[in-house]
Amino acid sequence: MKRQILLLGMHGQVGRELQRTLPLLGDMHAVGRADCDLADAEAVGRLLQAVKPDIIVNAAAFTAVDRAETEIETAFAINAGLPEILAAHCAASGALLVHYSTDYVFDGSKQGPYLESDSTGPLSQYGLSKAAGETAIGQSGCRHLLLRTSWVYSVHGSNFARTILNLARSRDALSIVANQYGAPTSADTIAIASTHAIHDLIRGRADGGIYHLTAAGETSWHGYARFLIGQALQLGMPLQLAPENISAIPASEYPLPAKRPCNSRLSIQKFQNTFDLVLPDWRSGIIRMLQETPTP
Ligand SMILES: NC(=O)c1ccc[n+]([C@@H]2O[C@H](COP(=O)([O-])OP(=O)(O)OC[C@H]3O[C@@H](n4cnc5c(N)ncnc54)[C@H](OP(=O)(O)O)[C@@H]3O)[C@@H](O)[C@H]2O)c1
Repeated sequence: MKRQILLLGMHGQVGRELQRTLPLLGDMHAVGRADCDLADAEAVGRLLQAVKPDIIVNAAAFTAVDRAETEIETAFAINAGLPEILAAHCAASGALLVHYSTDYVFDGSKQGPYLESDSTGPLSQYGLSKAAGETAIGQSGCRHLLLRTSWVYSVHGSNFARTILNLARSRDALSIVANQYGAPTSADTIAIASTHAIHDLIRGRADGGIYHLTAAGETSWHGYARFLIGQALQLGMPLQLAPENISAIPASEYPLPAKRPCNSRLSIQKFQNTFDLVLPDWRSGIIRMLQETPTP
């Protein structure tokens, strides 16, 4: 019998890309909000009973970081309550749970890249809710693959790259935060690398646990915006903004409801060594995303 795979969050950035890769591993049942409100525990229970998954891939999340500061209950229902339900189900059934988490579980005070073994210390409600989801999975005893990623973008969905490209169509100058560092990571890289990792796990070639899965290299939001706009102009996109007119400001000059870590760098050595994969430099994903972005 074919493996049954339940994908949650099918319309999200990562969920969309997983729809391309997960069918390589078995029968994929992809679920979006219209099929099941994942904040409704009873509905989730009915879904699990109907699909009887061997693997659950949870790409659903409450990702509106600033809104989470006020919509705390909803953020915790999706980012902590849902993984707890999924983990309990997997612990009882023996299914594998694949779940995504974030650099925002850290406080950013470390000098170098964060290791999987480093202590968490979220600065925001979003970070707290994602850390609570991680804890619930860890405590459940279920087989799991918990993948922390950072600064996700894709051609679809809402993300920093698309916001900057939209602004660049009408604005000729921007100020962008330059003292927060991380790795912009494309949703397709996450989906492809996750699928390889799941395959290794189900073949018994690797152990589960927490892994950091981001693009290689690092930049600031300011470096990210400059590179993005420079490349977009080279591809002939009709923009008003030149990279040199993107000025660098400290985060203190761009206050947002949720505090972000200054250091979002995650070490990817464990992921690369365990799964024998090479995670590409962040710039290559940006170029590919721009090539796939329709010109308005
Ligand atoms: N985005 C980032 O920069 C980032 C950074 C680090 C880690 N991560 C993590 O990576 C994972 C994937 O992120 P992403 O960027 O792909 O997220 P995304 O694009 O925001 O997608 C999340 C999906 O979850 C769905 N969802 C939320 N609440 C739901 C509910 N009550 N019922 C049913 N579906 C619901 C959303 O549905 P709707 O479309 O209907 O709202 C959306 O399709 C998440 O675990 C996230 O925490 C993301």
